[in-house]
Amino acid sequence: MMSSPAVLFVCLGNICRSPLAEAAFRVECERRDLEVGVDSAGTGDWHVGQPPDVRAQAVARRHGVDISRYRARQVCEEDFIRFTHVVALDTDNLADLQALAPPDATAQLSLLLDHVPGRAGEPVADPYFGAADGFDVTWADVTAGAAELARQLGED
Ligand code: 4NP
Repeated sequence: MMSSPAVLFVCLGNICRSPLAEAAFRVECERRDLEVGVDSAGTGDWHVGQPPDVRAQAVARRHGVDISRYRARQVCEEDFIRFTHVVALDTDNLADLQALAPPDATAQLSLLLDHVPGRAGEPVADPYFGAADGFDVTWADVTAGAAELARQLGED
């Protein structure tokens, strides 16, 4: 029997992009009535234990999702076994994950926008040091990726 899917979204800090990807993906799974485990993590440890950036919380809230209780954590080797899919937000994150993956990793590694037709190889840009409206771009990108990933998992 196939184990049920579980998806981990990974960015650098786990306070901007990957919590938004997690939120968007939860919405998509609910909409499609899919039972999928979901979490997010960062490759870095600077923000461990912190809630998402207030700008990320605000854009999620504008789209009807409360992410204020999410807390940042760092990705670990066990994640490559516990999750069926580990999804990087940008190509640096993907390279870091490839380096970190243990030899017995079972998760499929991918880049989020690889799941979106015509957008393979594109990163979800880091909005942390930019203007607040950068988070609207982040939301649009993670929603596009989350919708396609949920659709693909729903077909499996
Ligand atoms: P994230 O954004 O990777 O989308 O969570 C960042 C958050 C914090 C930092 C960089 C990116 N930082 O350098 O602290």
